[in-house]
Amino acid sequence: MKKINEDIEVLRTQLRYHNHRYYVLDDPEIPDAAYDRLFRELQALEKQHPELITADSPTQRVGDKPLSDFAEIKHALPMLSLSNVFDDEELQAFDKRLHDRLKDESALTYVAEPKLDGLAISLMYENGVLTYAATRGDGETGEDVTHNVRTIESVPLRLLGDDYPATLEVRGEIYMPKQGFAALNQRLEANEQKPFVNPRNAAAGTLRQLDPRITAKRPLTIFCYAVGLVEGGELPAQHYDVLMKLKDWGFRVCPEIEVVQGAAGCAEYYAGIGAKRAALPYEIDGVVYKVNDLALQQQLGFVSRAPRWATAHKFPAEEEITTLLDVEFQVGRTGALTPVARLEPVFVGGVTVSNATLHNMDEVARKDVRIGDTVIVRRAGDVIPEVVKPVLEQRPADTRAITMLTQCPVCASEVLRLEDEAVYRCTGGLFCPAQVKEAIKHFASRKAMNIDGLGDKLVEQLFEYKLIEHVDDLYKLEAGQVAELERMAAKSAKNLINALEDSKATTLERFIFALGIREVGETTAKTLARHYGSLENVMAADQDSLQAVPDVGPVVAERVFQFFRAEHNQETIANLRALGVQWADYEAVEGADLPLQGKTFVITGSFSRSRDLIKVDLEDLGAKVSGSVSKKTTALIAGEKAGSKLDKAEKLGVEVLGETGLVELLSQ
Ligand code: IVH
Repeated sequence: MKKINEDIEVLRTQLRYHNHRYYVLDDPEIPDAAYDRLFRELQALEKQHPELITADSPTQRVGDKPLSDFAEIKHALPMLSLSNVFDDEELQAFDKRLHDRLKDESALTYVAEPKLDGLAISLMYENGVLTYAATRGDGETGEDVTHNVRTIESVPLRLLGDDYPATLEVRGEIYMPKQGFAALNQRLEANEQKPFVNPRNAAAGTLRQLDPRITAKRPLTIFCYAVGLVEGGELPAQHYDVLMKLKDWGFRVCPEIEVVQGAAGCAEYYAGIGAKRAALPYEIDGVVYKVNDLALQQQLGFVSRAPRWATAHKFPAEEEITTLLDVEFQVGRTGALTPVARLEPVFVGGVTVSNATLHNMDEVARKDVRIGDTVIVRRAGDVIPEVVKPVLEQRPADTRAITMLTQCPVCASEVLRLEDEAVYRCTGGLFCPAQVKEAIKHFASRKAMNIDGLGDKLVEQLFEYKLIEHVDDLYKLEAGQVAELERMAAKSAKNLINALEDSKATTLERFIFALGIREVGETTAKTLARHYGSLENVMAADQDSLQAVPDVGPVVAERVFQFFRAEHNQETIANLRALGVQWADYEAVEGADLPLQGKTFVITGSFSRSRDLIKVDLEDLGAKVSGSVSKKTTALIAGEKAGSKLDKAEKLGVEVLGETGLVELLSQ
């Protein structure tokens, strides 16, 4: 019996170790199959000796009976809230208040942490074993959600090491990662169940499940950010060191947490996290600054249920409501008319927004928006602001429908919708100044001819003053003419002329992209350049030849073919070359005997460059790139945050290459 008990304890220790590597450190040491074997071994022993089962055993995470209700738990120490600051000025004032109170001038050391958008949780450990988990509730009393929290693999049921206090209450945020949220919603929708609005709601709904077997299937995790009650043991004297200690004991702590100096350090951290926000795998709604020194924290104390020594710096709201005043139509490079909402100006996502896109008429119909509606406007990160939907409950009686124009607002040509297209277009083509102007902006843009300093505003002016009418006119500009424009001087005019001169030495793919052929993006331009080697070859290619190019379908082939048949396009190209635009041709890579001929790759996850470019590189070497993993796949190219495709490849025994492996493959 003693031997069996020992065997069981050894297995539990091993499983806890590997569980921690997998769920907390994200760095598994053994394959899943080996973990499963250990797990089943423990299960078998526990089945033979049920009297040896303990609550902290790794097999005891998911209970098999739903609860009928949540019990209440009174918190050992109240769970507080945080004061807020909304801008730099308020942050400075927060910092100054602390200095005044402490009667100390020297810069304070803060710990800056992301403010996680989930649910606060209190985890109580007695002698290293989880005894309960409670929600915040009203701060005094919360709900007992132990049965659900036990199913979260990144929450330790037993602490690692042996230097933890006898009583330790750890606080943190339970949340659902963005990716897990998307997968869960997909699953719910596939089963015709209602999806969750956002990850926070999904986490809240999941934590309030009465049946732990449902919770166990949902991807919740935790970041710990504080301790509550501590008895029978010492903790470090600085908040940051406490967090590092929590890590040692097996808790997940957010890797973005940093020690910073003074209000300036806080502000810098805020800007840095703001820039990173969209790329983080979890949602945050601001940052939290905490005085690092626990003795100073104690000295500062609390006011009305919030600590003086901490504050939350919230990101500006990404959604707001305002009134849709009118709708205008913008004519794009390809003649597409985009409905643009003119709004009562509103502060959202950190800027004042007075225009927002409505995308196209199908979207207008789908969202059921009308002029005069109260609408929700969203601006997240650097994306173009958009009208999300009307607030139907607040629709006034006198709203007007949004209708498409019959004539182009710029050149008065007829507006038509082609059968197979979602958009309406002006049929004016190059007679339409709006289209030409957009074509010139595209030509000058960074990924096209990269004409430094020739931004949209300047193109507008050049156009307005009739200094340019077609792209080739750009290379006929003289410094004297340019210097007379608004906000231009001799020096900036000279700079522009130099930039134009510099842009003449380009590459074939940039030039093809710059032409603005419909459906020919950066990737297709590159493919065409590599495939045909020279512009003459591309121009001479017929549709059959074009369709044989990897990734060029009948629509793109048709567009490319037609573009080069148009006389004005041929003329423009000839003019541009006569004015000095030039590039080096490639050796055409048509035909067989390429090193990756006959091989099929699948690309997943994120890389240091776009997947499209990786695809082009592989295809240049003769490979096929497919969207799904099968037994026939030569290898899966898996970047960061690879998901189900990686699982599938591993299951099928398909070779997996990371970014380094890919670089090696390409260089070979
Ligand atoms: S510390 C006494 N740190 O924000 C300080 N809270 O507004 C208590 N939250 O209920 C909280 N990220 O749910 C702290 N890094 C973080 C946090 C954080 C998110 C939440 C928490 C709390 C709320 C307070």
